[in-house]
Amino acid sequence: MAGKWQEMYCENGEGELKSMILVFINGPDETLASTKSTDQPAYNIIAPNLSSCHESLTDANRRVYCCPPYYPDEPIVDFQFPDPTTTPLRIRRPAHKLTPEFIQNYSNAIKAMQSLPLSDPRNFLRQAALHCIFCTGSYDQILNSPTDHRPPGIIKIHRSWLFMPWHRMLFYFHERIVGDLIGDPTFGLPYWNWDTPEGMRDVAHLPPATANDNYDYDESHSGEELVQSNLALLYHQMVSGARKAELFHGCSYKAGQDGACDGAGTIELAPHNPLHTWVGSNLQPEREDLGAFYTAGKDPLFYAHHSNVDRMWELWQRSRAYQPEITDPDWLDSYFFFYDEKLQLTRIKIRDVLKITNLRYTYEEADLPWLNAKPKPSIPPKIAKNALKMRERNELRNGSAGRLRFATHLSMHFGSEGRILHEMVRIKVKRPRVCRTEKEKEEEEEVLVVYGINVMKDKYAKFDVFVNAVNETGLGPQAREFAGTFVNGRMGAKRPMVNEIVKKTVLKVGITELLEDLEADCDEFIWVSLVPRCHMGDYISFQGVRIEFMR
Ligand code: C2O
Repeated sequence: MAGKWQEMYCENGEGELKSMILVFINGPDETLASTKSTDQPAYNIIAPNLSSCHESLTDANRRVYCCPPYYPDEPIVDFQFPDPTTTPLRIRRPAHKLTPEFIQNYSNAIKAMQSLPLSDPRNFLRQAALHCIFCTGSYDQILNSPTDHRPPGIIKIHRSWLFMPWHRMLFYFHERIVGDLIGDPTFGLPYWNWDTPEGMRDVAHLPPATANDNYDYDESHSGEELVQSNLALLYHQMVSGARKAELFHGCSYKAGQDGACDGAGTIELAPHNPLHTWVGSNLQPEREDLGAFYTAGKDPLFYAHHSNVDRMWELWQRSRAYQPEITDPDWLDSYFFFYDEKLQLTRIKIRDVLKITNLRYTYEEADLPWLNAKPKPSIPPKIAKNALKMRERNELRNGSAGRLRFATHLSMHFGSEGRILHEMVRIKVKRPRVCRTEKEKEEEEEVLVVYGINVMKDKYAKFDVFVNAVNETGLGPQAREFAGTFVNGRMGAKRPMVNEIVKKTVLKVGITELLEDLEADCDEFIWVSLVPRCHMGDYISFQGVRIEFMR
Protein backbone atom coordinates (compact mmCIF):
# COMPACT_ATOMS: atom_id res chain seq x y z
CA MET A 1 0.00 0.00 0.00
CA ALA A 2 2.75 2.39 0.91
CA GLY A 3 4.13 1.92 -2.57
CA LYS A 4 0.94 3.19 -4.06
CA TRP A 5 1.03 6.20 -1.83
CA GLN A 6 4.49 6.90 -2.99
CA GLU A 7 3.47 6.84 -6.63
CA MET A 8 0.73 9.36 -6.13
CA TYR A 9 1.28 11.39 -3.07
CA CYS A 10 4.62 10.67 -1.61
CA GLU A 11 6.82 13.68 -1.83
CA ASN A 12 7.79 13.52 1.82
CA GLY A 13 10.21 10.62 1.66
CA GLU A 14 9.93 7.00 2.44
CA GLY A 15 10.74 7.17 6.15
CA GLU A 16 7.42 8.67 7.00
CA LEU A 17 5.58 6.32 4.77
CA LYS A 18 6.97 3.40 6.66
CA SER A 19 5.51 4.85 9.83
CA MET A 20 2.04 4.74 8.35
CA ILE A 21 -0.08 1.87 9.43
CA LEU A 22 -2.55 0.86 6.80
CA VAL A 23 -5.22 -1.46 7.97
CA PHE A 24 -7.81 -2.84 5.67
CA ILE A 25 -10.66 -4.98 6.81
CA ASN A 26 -13.42 -6.30 4.73
CA GLY A 27 -16.01 -7.05 7.37
CA PRO A 28 -18.80 -4.82 8.60
CA ASP A 29 -17.73 -1.38 9.72
CA GLU A 30 -17.64 -1.54 13.51
CA THR A 31 -16.68 2.07 13.89
CA LEU A 32 -19.82 3.22 12.24
CA ALA A 33 -22.04 0.92 14.21
CA SER A 34 -20.67 2.21 17.49
CA THR A 35 -21.16 5.83 16.56
CA LYS A 36 -24.59 5.53 15.06
CA SER A 37 -26.63 8.43 16.36
CA THR A 38 -29.87 7.83 18.16
CA ASP A 39 -32.00 9.37 15.45
CA GLN A 40 -32.74 6.67 12.91
CA PRO A 41 -30.91 7.36 9.67
CA ALA A 42 -33.16 7.61 6.68
CA TYR A 43 -32.95 4.78 4.24
CA ASN A 44 -31.08 6.43 1.45
CA ILE A 45 -28.48 8.64 3.03
CA ILE A 46 -24.96 8.74 1.70
CA ALA A 47 -22.00 8.08 3.96
CA PRO A 48 -18.60 6.54 3.33
CA ASN A 49 -17.59 3.17 4.65
CA LEU A 50 -14.18 4.12 6.01
CA SER A 51 -12.90 0.59 5.78
CA SER A 52 -13.58 0.35 2.07
CA CYS A 53 -11.07 2.73 0.49
CA HIS A 54 -9.62 1.33 -2.71
CA GLU A 55 -7.45 2.42 -5.58
CA SER A 56 -8.68 4.11 -8.75
CA LEU A 57 -7.47 4.25 -12.30
CA THR A 58 -6.59 7.16 -14.53
CA ASP A 59 -8.02 7.32 -17.99
CA ALA A 60 -4.82 5.77 -19.26
CA ASN A 61 -5.28 3.01 -16.67
CA ARG A 62 -2.56 4.34 -14.42
CA ARG A 63 -3.20 3.39 -10.82
CA VAL A 64 -4.08 6.14 -8.39
CA TYR A 65 -4.18 5.52 -4.70
CA CYS A 66 -5.24 8.33 -2.38
CA CYS A 67 -6.54 6.43 0.63
CA PRO A 68 -5.65 7.48 4.17
CA PRO A 69 -4.64 4.97 6.81
CA TYR A 70 -7.62 3.40 8.49
CA TYR A 71 -7.74 2.48 12.17
CA PRO A 72 -10.87 0.47 12.95
CA ASP A 73 -10.87 1.44 16.63
CA GLU A 74 -10.33 5.12 16.16
CA PRO A 75 -12.87 7.10 18.16
CA ILE A 76 -15.22 9.29 16.16
CA VAL A 77 -17.23 12.18 17.56
CA ASP A 78 -20.29 13.88 16.16
CA PHE A 79 -19.77 17.42 15.02
CA GLN A 80 -20.72 20.19 17.46
CA PHE A 81 -21.19 23.79 16.42
CA PRO A 82 -18.39 25.98 17.72
CA ASP A 83 -19.47 28.00 20.74
CA PRO A 84 -20.31 31.49 19.44
CA THR A 85 -19.41 33.11 22.76
CA THR A 86 -15.86 31.83 22.70
CA THR A 87 -15.10 31.26 19.01
CA PRO A 88 -14.08 34.31 17.03
CA LEU A 89 -15.76 34.79 13.68
CA ARG A 90 -13.38 34.04 10.83
CA ILE A 91 -13.66 36.45 7.94
CA ARG A 92 -12.81 35.18 4.47
CA ARG A 93 -11.41 38.02 2.36
CA PRO A 94 -10.88 38.51 -1.38
CA ALA A 95 -7.49 37.18 -2.45
CA HIS A 96 -6.62 40.30 -4.44
CA LYS A 97 -6.93 42.43 -1.31
CA LEU A 98 -4.74 40.40 1.02
CA THR A 99 -1.92 42.12 2.90
CA PRO A 100 1.67 40.89 2.45
CA GLU A 101 1.59 39.91 6.08
CA PHE A 102 -1.45 37.68 5.60
CA ILE A 103 0.14 36.04 2.57
CA GLN A 104 3.31 35.41 4.55
CA ASN A 105 1.37 33.78 7.40
CA TYR A 106 -0.68 31.68 5.03
CA SER A 107 2.36 30.42 3.18
CA ASN A 108 4.03 29.64 6.50
CA ALA A 109 1.00 27.55 7.35
CA ILE A 110 1.20 25.65 4.09
CA LYS A 111 4.90 25.00 4.67
CA ALA A 112 4.08 23.76 8.15
CA MET A 113 1.50 21.39 6.67
CA GLN A 114 3.97 20.17 4.08
CA SER A 115 6.53 19.34 6.71
CA LEU A 116 4.19 17.28 8.86
CA PRO A 117 4.61 13.52 8.41
CA LEU A 118 2.22 11.77 6.04
CA SER A 119 0.81 9.92 9.00
CA ASP A 120 -0.62 13.23 10.20
CA PRO A 121 -3.99 14.04 8.61
CA ARG A 122 -3.07 17.73 8.66
CA ASN A 123 -0.21 17.05 6.25
CA PHE A 124 -0.76 19.06 3.08
CA LEU A 125 -0.80 16.03 0.79
CA ARG A 126 -3.20 14.25 3.10
CA GLN A 127 -5.50 17.25 2.83
CA ALA A 128 -5.14 17.22 -0.94
CA ALA A 129 -5.81 13.48 -0.99
CA LEU A 130 -9.24 14.01 0.59
CA HIS A 131 -10.38 15.53 -2.64
CA CYS A 132 -8.77 12.76 -4.69
CA ILE A 133 -10.57 10.11 -2.64
CA PHE A 134 -13.96 11.62 -3.14
CA CYS A 135 -13.58 12.65 -6.76
CA THR A 136 -12.43 9.21 -7.84
CA GLY A 137 -15.01 7.27 -5.88
CA SER A 138 -12.50 5.51 -3.64
CA TYR A 139 -15.02 4.79 -0.89
CA ASP A 140 -18.00 2.49 -0.92
CA GLN A 141 -21.14 3.71 0.78
CA ILE A 142 -22.29 2.41 4.13
CA LEU A 143 -25.30 0.16 4.02
CA ASN A 144 -28.39 1.99 5.19
CA SER A 145 -29.78 -0.98 7.03
CA PRO A 146 -28.67 -4.49 7.94
CA THR A 147 -31.36 -5.90 5.69
CA ASP A 148 -30.21 -3.92 2.70
CA HIS A 149 -28.29 -6.43 0.62
CA ARG A 150 -28.00 -4.36 -2.50
CA PRO A 151 -24.37 -3.91 -3.50
CA PRO A 152 -23.29 -0.57 -2.06
CA GLY A 153 -22.62 2.21 -4.51
CA ILE A 154 -19.47 4.27 -4.49
CA ILE A 155 -19.43 7.91 -3.44
CA LYS A 156 -18.61 10.75 -5.75
CA ILE A 157 -19.09 14.29 -4.61
CA HIS A 158 -19.20 16.03 -7.96
CA ARG A 159 -22.15 16.55 -10.29
CA SER A 160 -24.91 16.22 -7.72
CA TRP A 161 -26.39 17.85 -4.61
CA LEU A 162 -23.39 16.58 -2.61
CA PHE A 163 -21.10 19.06 -4.34
CA MET A 164 -21.77 22.21 -2.31
CA PRO A 165 -22.02 20.70 1.18
CA TRP A 166 -19.12 18.25 0.86
CA HIS A 167 -16.77 20.96 -0.35
CA ARG A 168 -17.97 23.30 2.39
CA MET A 169 -17.00 20.66 4.95
CA LEU A 170 -13.59 20.07 3.42
CA PHE A 171 -12.64 23.74 3.43
CA TYR A 172 -14.14 24.39 6.83
CA PHE A 173 -11.88 21.80 8.47
CA HIS A 174 -8.94 22.81 6.31
CA GLU A 175 -9.35 26.40 7.48
CA ARG A 176 -9.43 25.38 11.13
CA ILE A 177 -6.24 23.37 10.63
CA VAL A 178 -4.44 26.24 8.89
CA GLY A 179 -5.50 28.70 11.60
CA ASP A 180 -4.34 26.37 14.33
CA LEU A 181 -0.95 25.81 12.75
CA ILE A 182 -0.22 29.54 12.73
CA GLY A 183 -1.84 30.16 16.08
CA ASP A 184 -4.54 32.40 14.61
CA PRO A 185 -8.08 31.39 15.54
CA THR A 186 -9.42 34.20 13.33
CA PHE A 187 -7.75 32.87 10.19
CA GLY A 188 -10.15 32.78 7.26
CA LEU A 189 -9.33 31.31 3.85
CA PRO A 190 -8.98 33.90 1.11
CA TYR A 191 -11.52 33.76 -1.67
CA TRP A 192 -10.73 34.11 -5.36
CA ASN A 193 -13.18 36.83 -6.21
CA TRP A 194 -13.68 35.77 -9.86
CA ASP A 195 -17.11 37.36 -9.91
CA THR A 196 -15.83 40.95 -9.85
CA PRO A 197 -13.64 42.56 -12.53
CA GLU A 198 -10.82 43.22 -10.03
CA GLY A 199 -10.74 39.60 -8.95
CA MET A 200 -10.96 37.99 -12.40
CA ARG A 201 -7.30 37.13 -12.63
CA ASP A 202 -4.60 34.73 -11.69
CA VAL A 203 -1.20 36.37 -11.63
CA ALA A 204 0.54 33.14 -12.57
CA HIS A 205 -1.51 32.77 -15.75
CA LEU A 206 0.30 33.98 -18.84
CA PRO A 207 -1.59 36.45 -21.02
CA PRO A 208 -4.46 36.84 -21.38
CA ALA A 209 -4.57 37.41 -17.68
CA THR A 210 -8.31 37.94 -17.31
CA ALA A 211 -9.86 34.76 -15.94
CA ASN A 212 -12.31 33.13 -18.30
CA ASP A 213 -15.21 31.87 -16.18
CA ASN A 214 -16.56 30.01 -19.19
CA TYR A 215 -13.21 28.77 -20.54
CA ASP A 216 -13.47 26.84 -23.78
CA TYR A 217 -9.78 26.45 -24.75
CA ASP A 218 -10.00 29.70 -26.63
CA GLU A 219 -7.49 32.18 -25.23
CA SER A 220 -8.43 34.93 -27.65
CA HIS A 221 -11.15 36.41 -25.46
CA SER A 222 -9.82 39.20 -23.30
CA GLY A 223 -10.32 42.58 -21.74
CA GLU A 224 -13.63 44.29 -21.22
CA GLU A 225 -15.52 41.91 -23.49
CA LEU A 226 -14.44 38.95 -21.39
CA VAL A 227 -15.31 40.75 -18.16
CA GLN A 228 -18.82 41.41 -19.45
CA SER A 229 -19.21 37.84 -20.59
CA ASN A 230 -18.12 36.59 -17.14
CA LEU A 231 -20.62 38.84 -15.39
CA ALA A 232 -23.43 37.76 -17.68
CA LEU A 233 -22.54 34.13 -17.07
CA LEU A 234 -22.75 34.70 -13.32
CA TYR A 235 -26.09 36.42 -13.68
CA HIS A 236 -27.28 33.35 -15.49
CA GLN A 237 -25.80 30.78 -13.10
CA MET A 238 -26.78 32.62 -9.91
CA VAL A 239 -30.04 34.32 -10.81
CA SER A 240 -32.12 33.44 -13.84
CA GLY A 241 -30.79 29.90 -14.23
CA ALA A 242 -30.88 29.04 -10.52
CA ARG A 243 -34.46 29.71 -9.49
CA LYS A 244 -34.91 26.24 -8.02
CA ALA A 245 -32.69 24.37 -5.58
CA GLU A 246 -32.20 21.46 -7.96
CA LEU A 247 -30.91 23.79 -10.66
CA PHE A 248 -28.42 25.34 -8.27
CA HIS A 249 -27.36 22.21 -6.39
CA GLY A 250 -27.71 19.47 -9.00
CA CYS A 251 -29.50 16.14 -8.92
CA SER A 252 -30.43 14.07 -5.84
CA TYR A 253 -27.69 11.53 -5.24
CA LYS A 254 -28.91 8.75 -3.00
CA ALA A 255 -27.62 5.51 -1.63
CA GLY A 256 -27.19 2.34 -3.63
CA GLN A 257 -26.15 1.87 -7.21
CA ASP A 258 -29.65 2.72 -8.31
CA GLY A 259 -29.64 5.92 -6.25
CA ALA A 260 -26.71 7.47 -8.08
CA CYS A 261 -27.32 10.38 -10.39
CA ASP A 262 -25.15 12.56 -12.55
CA GLY A 263 -26.27 16.13 -13.10
CA ALA A 264 -24.38 19.14 -11.77
CA GLY A 265 -25.79 22.44 -10.58
CA THR A 266 -25.18 25.78 -12.25
CA ILE A 267 -22.14 27.04 -10.36
CA GLU A 268 -20.39 23.70 -10.41
CA LEU A 269 -20.73 23.54 -14.19
CA ALA A 270 -19.43 27.06 -14.59
CA PRO A 271 -17.45 28.96 -13.45
CA HIS A 272 -16.26 26.11 -11.22
CA ASN A 273 -15.24 23.61 -13.89
CA PRO A 274 -13.87 26.03 -16.50
CA LEU A 275 -11.67 27.80 -13.96
CA HIS A 276 -10.14 24.52 -12.86
CA THR A 277 -9.17 23.93 -16.46
CA TRP A 278 -8.13 27.50 -17.20
CA VAL A 279 -5.65 27.44 -14.32
CA GLY A 280 -4.43 23.88 -14.86
CA SER A 281 -1.13 23.60 -16.65
CA ASN A 282 -1.30 22.83 -20.34
CA LEU A 283 2.18 21.32 -20.00
CA GLN A 284 0.74 18.43 -17.99
CA PRO A 285 -1.07 15.52 -19.65
CA GLU A 286 -4.31 16.07 -17.77
CA ARG A 287 -3.74 19.72 -16.92
CA GLU A 288 -2.63 18.86 -13.43
CA ASP A 289 -2.68 20.25 -10.80
CA LEU A 290 -5.82 22.34 -10.77
CA GLY A 291 -7.11 21.05 -14.11
CA ALA A 292 -7.71 17.48 -12.88
CA PHE A 293 -9.72 16.83 -9.78
CA TYR A 294 -7.48 14.09 -8.45
CA THR A 295 -4.54 16.49 -8.10
CA ALA A 296 -6.42 19.78 -7.67
CA GLY A 297 -5.90 19.87 -3.91
CA LYS A 298 -2.15 20.19 -4.40
CA ASP A 299 -2.55 23.69 -5.82
CA PRO A 300 -3.07 26.26 -3.05
CA LEU A 301 -5.35 28.16 -5.41
CA PHE A 302 -7.82 25.29 -5.07
CA TYR A 303 -8.71 26.51 -1.59
CA ALA A 304 -9.30 30.10 -2.67
CA HIS A 305 -11.24 28.98 -5.75
CA HIS A 306 -13.58 26.90 -3.63
CA SER A 307 -13.91 29.59 -1.03
CA ASN A 308 -15.59 31.64 -3.73
CA VAL A 309 -17.68 28.70 -4.92
CA ASP A 310 -18.85 28.36 -1.32
CA ARG A 311 -19.48 32.10 -1.15
CA MET A 312 -21.77 31.73 -4.19
CA TRP A 313 -23.80 29.19 -2.21
CA GLU A 314 -24.07 31.59 0.70
CA LEU A 315 -25.10 34.46 -1.64
CA TRP A 316 -27.67 32.26 -3.32
CA GLN A 317 -29.08 31.27 0.07
CA ARG A 318 -29.22 34.91 1.06
CA SER A 319 -31.04 35.83 -2.15
CA ARG A 320 -33.83 33.48 -1.10
CA ALA A 321 -33.82 34.75 2.48
CA TYR A 322 -32.41 31.45 3.75
CA GLN A 323 -35.62 29.56 3.13
CA PRO A 324 -35.03 25.83 3.44
CA GLU A 325 -33.46 24.79 0.15
CA ILE A 326 -33.74 21.02 0.22
CA THR A 327 -35.82 19.35 2.91
CA ASP A 328 -35.19 15.75 1.92
CA PRO A 329 -33.66 13.95 4.94
CA ASP A 330 -31.61 11.83 2.56
CA TRP A 331 -29.65 15.00 1.84
CA LEU A 332 -29.76 16.56 5.30
CA ASP A 333 -28.62 13.40 7.10
CA SER A 334 -25.94 12.30 4.67
CA TYR A 335 -22.62 12.53 6.47
CA PHE A 336 -18.88 12.47 6.03
CA PHE A 337 -15.78 12.30 8.22
CA PHE A 338 -13.04 14.86 8.62
CA TYR A 339 -10.17 15.38 11.02
CA ASP A 340 -10.23 18.65 12.89
CA GLU A 341 -7.15 20.62 13.97
CA LYS A 342 -6.84 18.51 17.11
CA LEU A 343 -6.73 15.33 15.00
CA GLN A 344 -10.18 14.34 16.18
CA LEU A 345 -12.04 12.35 13.55
CA THR A 346 -15.44 14.00 13.30
CA ARG A 347 -18.68 12.93 11.72
CA ILE A 348 -20.52 15.84 10.15
CA LYS A 349 -23.88 15.90 8.41
CA ILE A 350 -25.03 18.08 5.59
CA ARG A 351 -27.60 19.65 7.91
CA ASP A 352 -24.68 20.93 10.03
CA VAL A 353 -23.23 23.06 7.28
CA LEU A 354 -26.23 24.89 5.90
CA LYS A 355 -25.46 28.16 7.65
CA ILE A 356 -21.97 29.50 7.67
CA THR A 357 -22.47 31.70 10.71
CA ASN A 358 -23.16 28.55 12.73
CA LEU A 359 -19.72 27.43 11.62
CA ARG A 360 -18.34 30.80 12.74
CA TYR A 361 -17.10 32.10 9.45
CA THR A 362 -18.34 34.70 7.04
CA TYR A 363 -17.35 36.44 3.82
CA GLU A 364 -16.19 40.01 3.62
CA GLU A 365 -18.71 41.83 1.49
CA ALA A 366 -17.73 42.61 -2.08
CA ASP A 367 -19.59 44.20 -4.98
CA LEU A 368 -21.89 41.92 -6.89
CA PRO A 369 -21.75 43.50 -10.35
CA TRP A 370 -23.31 40.41 -11.95
CA LEU A 371 -26.60 41.07 -10.18
CA ASN A 372 -27.20 43.83 -12.71
CA ALA A 373 -25.60 42.08 -15.65
CA LYS A 374 -28.69 40.58 -17.19
CA PRO A 375 -27.82 40.16 -20.86
CA LYS A 376 -29.90 41.50 -23.74
CA PRO A 377 -31.07 39.55 -26.77
CA SER A 378 -28.45 39.69 -29.53
CA ILE A 379 -31.20 40.47 -32.06
CA PRO A 380 -34.51 42.16 -31.19
CA PRO A 381 -36.87 39.24 -30.50
CA LYS A 382 -39.46 40.13 -33.16
CA ILE A 383 -36.85 40.29 -35.88
CA ALA A 384 -35.30 37.09 -34.58
CA LYS A 385 -38.60 35.25 -34.71
CA ASN A 386 -39.16 36.20 -38.33
CA ALA A 387 -35.67 35.13 -39.18
CA LEU A 388 -36.21 31.80 -37.43
CA LYS A 389 -39.40 31.20 -39.41
CA MET A 390 -37.64 32.00 -42.64
CA ARG A 391 -34.79 29.71 -41.74
CA GLU A 392 -37.20 26.89 -41.06
CA ARG A 393 -39.00 27.43 -44.37
CA ASN A 394 -35.73 27.45 -46.27
CA GLU A 395 -34.53 24.33 -44.54
CA LEU A 396 -37.72 22.51 -45.43
CA ARG A 397 -37.67 23.71 -49.02
CA ASN A 398 -34.01 22.95 -49.61
CA GLY A 399 -34.24 19.55 -48.06
CA SER A 400 -30.81 18.04 -47.65
CA ALA A 401 -29.03 21.07 -49.08
CA GLY A 402 -30.16 23.06 -46.09
CA ARG A 403 -28.81 20.41 -43.80
CA LEU A 404 -25.32 20.39 -45.15
CA ARG A 405 -24.03 22.69 -42.51
CA PHE A 406 -26.39 22.18 -39.65
CA ALA A 407 -28.37 19.17 -38.71
CA THR A 408 -31.82 20.58 -38.13
CA HIS A 409 -34.14 18.25 -36.33
CA LEU A 410 -37.80 18.59 -35.84
CA SER A 411 -37.80 15.58 -33.60
CA MET A 412 -36.40 15.82 -30.12
CA HIS A 413 -35.27 12.27 -29.44
CA PHE A 414 -32.33 10.50 -30.98
CA GLY A 415 -32.85 7.06 -29.53
CA SER A 416 -30.63 5.11 -27.20
CA GLU A 417 -27.56 5.49 -29.42
CA GLY A 418 -27.79 9.23 -29.11
CA ARG A 419 -26.37 11.80 -31.42
CA ILE A 420 -22.76 12.85 -31.53
CA LEU A 421 -22.13 16.55 -31.20
CA HIS A 422 -19.39 16.77 -33.79
CA GLU A 423 -21.14 19.85 -35.06
CA MET A 424 -23.81 22.18 -33.81
CA VAL A 425 -27.27 20.67 -33.54
CA ARG A 426 -30.44 22.73 -33.76
CA ILE A 427 -33.66 21.26 -32.50
CA LYS A 428 -37.19 22.59 -32.63
CA VAL A 429 -38.72 21.79 -29.25
CA LYS A 430 -42.41 21.76 -28.44
CA ARG A 431 -43.39 23.38 -25.16
CA PRO A 432 -46.01 21.50 -23.14
CA ARG A 433 -47.45 24.70 -21.66
CA VAL A 434 -47.39 28.26 -22.86
CA CYS A 435 -48.46 31.68 -21.57
CA ARG A 436 -48.31 30.65 -17.92
CA THR A 437 -49.43 33.08 -15.24
CA GLU A 438 -46.96 34.82 -12.95
CA LYS A 439 -48.04 32.58 -10.12
CA GLU A 440 -47.53 29.43 -12.15
CA LYS A 441 -44.11 30.65 -13.19
CA GLU A 442 -43.21 31.38 -9.61
CA GLU A 443 -44.23 27.90 -8.51
CA GLU A 444 -42.79 25.93 -11.37
CA GLU A 445 -39.71 26.74 -13.34
CA GLU A 446 -39.70 25.80 -17.00
CA VAL A 447 -36.62 23.67 -17.50
CA LEU A 448 -34.89 22.63 -20.66
CA VAL A 449 -33.44 19.17 -20.19
CA VAL A 450 -30.65 17.78 -22.35
CA TYR A 451 -30.66 14.13 -21.39
CA GLY A 452 -28.58 11.05 -22.00
CA ILE A 453 -25.35 13.05 -22.30
CA ASN A 454 -22.40 10.77 -22.66
CA VAL A 455 -18.84 12.04 -22.58
CA MET A 456 -16.87 9.18 -24.04
CA LYS A 457 -13.51 9.97 -22.52
CA ASP A 458 -12.35 11.65 -19.39
CA LYS A 459 -11.84 14.87 -21.28
CA TYR A 460 -12.58 18.48 -20.65
CA ALA A 461 -15.62 18.65 -22.87
CA LYS A 462 -18.15 21.42 -23.18
CA PHE A 463 -21.16 22.56 -25.10
CA ASP A 464 -23.28 25.67 -24.81
CA VAL A 465 -27.06 25.79 -25.11
CA PHE A 466 -28.90 28.61 -26.84
CA VAL A 467 -32.58 29.30 -27.28
CA ASN A 468 -33.97 30.99 -30.39
CA ALA A 469 -30.54 31.97 -31.65
CA VAL A 470 -30.58 33.08 -35.28
CA ASN A 471 -26.81 33.01 -35.63
CA GLU A 472 -24.84 31.22 -32.97
CA THR A 473 -21.44 32.29 -34.29
CA GLY A 474 -19.71 34.39 -31.68
CA LEU A 475 -22.59 34.11 -29.23
CA GLY A 476 -21.79 33.53 -25.59
CA PRO A 477 -23.22 34.27 -22.15
CA GLN A 478 -23.43 37.98 -22.97
CA ALA A 479 -26.41 37.21 -25.23
CA ARG A 480 -29.77 36.50 -23.65
CA GLU A 481 -30.15 33.54 -26.00
CA PHE A 482 -27.52 31.75 -23.90
CA ALA A 483 -29.42 29.25 -21.77
CA GLY A 484 -26.59 27.38 -20.09
CA THR A 485 -23.51 25.31 -20.52
CA PHE A 486 -22.49 21.73 -19.97
CA VAL A 487 -18.92 21.36 -18.77
CA ASN A 488 -17.32 18.01 -18.10
CA GLY A 489 -14.56 18.59 -15.57
CA ARG A 490 -12.01 15.84 -15.84
CA MET A 491 -11.51 13.67 -12.84
CA GLY A 492 -8.27 12.30 -14.18
CA ALA A 493 -9.10 9.04 -12.48
CA LYS A 494 -11.93 6.64 -12.29
CA ARG A 495 -12.88 3.80 -10.07
CA PRO A 496 -12.81 0.52 -11.95
CA MET A 497 -16.32 0.39 -13.26
CA VAL A 498 -16.95 -3.29 -12.63
CA ASN A 499 -20.55 -3.79 -11.66
CA GLU A 500 -21.20 -0.08 -11.81
CA ILE A 501 -24.17 1.12 -13.71
CA VAL A 502 -22.63 3.89 -15.72
CA LYS A 503 -25.22 6.57 -15.77
CA LYS A 504 -25.51 9.16 -18.41
CA THR A 505 -25.46 12.79 -17.47
CA VAL A 506 -28.27 15.24 -17.64
CA LEU A 507 -28.13 19.01 -18.05
CA LYS A 508 -31.07 21.04 -16.75
CA VAL A 509 -31.33 24.73 -17.45
CA GLY A 510 -34.03 27.06 -16.16
CA ILE A 511 -35.49 29.16 -18.95
CA THR A 512 -38.57 30.91 -17.55
CA GLU A 513 -37.02 34.37 -17.35
CA LEU A 514 -35.06 33.90 -20.55
CA LEU A 515 -38.24 33.10 -22.50
CA GLU A 516 -39.88 36.25 -21.18
CA ASP A 517 -36.91 38.33 -22.28
CA LEU A 518 -36.94 36.69 -25.71
CA GLU A 519 -40.70 37.33 -25.93
CA ALA A 520 -41.19 33.63 -26.48
CA ASP A 521 -43.33 33.07 -23.44
CA CYS A 522 -46.43 32.25 -25.49
CA ASP A 523 -44.71 30.40 -28.33
CA GLU A 524 -45.61 26.81 -28.90
CA PHE A 525 -42.11 25.94 -30.12
CA ILE A 526 -38.62 27.15 -29.34
CA TRP A 527 -35.40 26.52 -31.20
CA VAL A 528 -32.65 25.01 -29.13
CA SER A 529 -29.05 24.99 -30.36
CA LEU A 530 -26.35 22.85 -28.81
CA VAL A 531 -22.95 24.20 -29.75
CA PRO A 532 -19.88 22.04 -29.02
CA ARG A 533 -16.81 23.84 -27.65
CA CYS A 534 -13.16 22.99 -27.10
CA HIS A 535 -13.13 20.83 -30.27
CA MET A 536 -14.53 18.05 -28.14
CA GLY A 537 -17.86 17.48 -29.86
CA ASP A 538 -16.68 14.12 -31.22
CA TYR A 539 -16.53 12.81 -27.68
CA ILE A 540 -19.99 13.99 -26.61
CA SER A 541 -23.30 12.45 -27.48
CA PHE A 542 -26.77 13.11 -26.16
CA GLN A 543 -30.07 11.33 -26.53
CA GLY A 544 -32.48 14.18 -26.69
CA VAL A 545 -34.00 17.37 -25.43
CA ARG A 546 -37.26 17.97 -23.63
CA ILE A 547 -39.00 20.52 -21.47
CA GLU A 548 -40.18 19.82 -17.96
CA PHE A 549 -41.52 21.87 -15.08
CA MET A 550 -39.71 21.93 -11.76
CA ARG A 551 -41.20 22.81 -8.39
CU1 C2O B 1 -14.18 19.01 -6.02
CU2 C2O B 1 -13.25 22.16 -7.60
O1 C2O B 1 -13.65 20.39 -7.23
